[in-house]
Amino acid sequence: MGAPVHAQHRLSGIAPTDVLQTLLTDSPDEAAALLRRGHLVAFPTETVYGLGADATNPDAVSAIFRAKARPTDNPLIVHLAHASEIAKVAYHVSPSARALIRAFFPGPLTVVLRKRPSLLSTVTAHLGTVAVRVPAHPMASRFLSACACPVAAPSANRSGRPSATTWEAARDDLDGRIAAILRCAPSMEGIESTVVDCSRPEPELLRAGAISLEAIRTVVPNIAVASVAPNHAVRSPGMRYRHYAPSARVALVDTAKEAVPHPLHAYIGLERPSCTDTFGLCHHALDAPGYGHVLFSFFRQCEKAGIRAIFCQAVPETGIGRALMDRLRRAAAPQ
Ligand code: TXA
Ligand code: MG
Repeated sequence: MGAPVHAQHRLSGIAPTDVLQTLLTDSPDEAAALLRRGHLVAFPTETVYGLGADATNPDAVSAIFRAKARPTDNPLIVHLAHASEIAKVAYHVSPSARALIRAFFPGPLTVVLRKRPSLLSTVTAHLGTVAVRVPAHPMASRFLSACACPVAAPSANRSGRPSATTWEAARDDLDGRIAAILRCAPSMEGIESTVVDCSRPEPELLRAGAISLEAIRTVVPNIAVASVAPNHAVRSPGMRYRHYAPSARVALVDTAKEAVPHPLHAYIGLERPSCTDTFGLCHHALDAPGYGHVLFSFFRQCEKAGIRAIFCQAVPETGIGRALMDRLRRAAAPQ
């Protein structure tokens, strides 16, 4: 690994799926140049790493779905360098959307707005809406500015797997399938952005995320919370898939005592189990944000260690705890 970009990238503009070797780069300009030539590039954000493509290039957008093995009915978030660029992809920014954008952009919030007809329908899985986000991560901002185009980006993991919160995790899932990975430190939040649908008169929370519902309510007190009932599946297609799941079985427990000690079992939670040594891997987080920060990388660490069962302590569903419990429940859902 760490080899320079495959010579063909620079010489011939080969099709994005023909990539043979994935470049690891620290240069946002180099990564952006590849993306502008139609290639896929993983890049850091404050939530999780994204897998970016030029949202105006149909081949590049299709390549995202192939590289991740992602169902094509699951729409992508469009990432922008500045909120001032929203009008390029969306229109009719409602008063509540405006208030949320003013309060939380740049940052770990995604707003769903009405889509401009000129935006590729494959980006939005043929929905009439588009999800938009402006990351606050300095490297993401430099990269997106250098791209100078809207960047369609899901999380940089194979579909259904835990999100990539480090460049190494993105490489583990996507090496040889994408042109480059823009390397940076692990994502600070470790949990994806909060998704709020602002395309209708009443804003609705579609995915709990790094910004708490309580914080969103200080700006839009009337926000509704989408149920995970099947009739909501079309409005937030990603939420109907099993997600965030490592190869080991994930089990939710209320207390550390319920976790079954065994060398092939792991435990993660806020409470410290009395016999930490008897678990193959054990992580005791200091608080819920710390738990969220390490969760996905802990799942991946467990896979590498051959762990068979991961016991995860449930947390109260307030603040980041709401998003954390959503991810834990999905990871623990039956196949
Ligand atoms: O933090 C994040 O949001 C990361 C970073 C890379 O920005 N991205 C991310 O993307 O988590 P992804 O594709 O893994 O999840 C996007 C979620 C999916 O549940 C998808 O269905 C939903 O957003 N979504 C995207 N566009 C939508 C739309 N137009 N309407 C409703 N839901 C949408
Ligand atoms: Mg994802």
